[in-house]
Amino acid sequence: MRKIMVVFGAMVLSATIAVSTSSADGDLAVAKLLYQKKCSVCHGKDGVPKKRGGESASFNDPEWQAKITVEQIVEIIKEGRGEGKYKMKPLETKLTPEEIEMVARFVKEEFGKKK
Ligand code: HEC
Repeated sequence: MRKIMVVFGAMVLSATIAVSTSSADGDLAVAKLLYQKKCSVCHGKDGVPKKRGGESASFNDPEWQAKITVEQIVEIIKEGRGEGKYKMKPLETKLTPEEIEMVARFVKEEFGKKK
């Protein structure tokens, strides 16, 4: 029963994603979900890096935001980052180009506008 519920939940979720991609607000919701699923374990829901985020900047840091572009974030997501104990693997094959673009914009626009 539990398994069925999980499968059903996943179906509802993907249906929601499909429907919501049609509007700008929907894009934001999808981007947020993507961020929470694919990035927040390391970068924190609030953009402040957790242990696994290693030396990553806080996405809320105005100085970091001033220097970074959406294009650069896209590159980082595709190619990964870092050499040390905590590093980010390339995510190019884990996300579609559209998803990468969306989540990169989310990092820049949502965390950037706070301050
Ligand atoms: C397994 C953990 C992990 C995941 C998952 C992860 N990252 Fe990272 N990320 C890191 C680490 C560690 C660094 C810092 C690497 C270094 O420079 O040493 C980093 C660096 C970055 C940077 C550069 C920050 C800076 O200091 O300039 C960006 C931007 C970034 N990640 C975005 C993302 C996005 C967006 C996602 C989700 C699509 C993501 N990351 C998923 C671990 C992760």
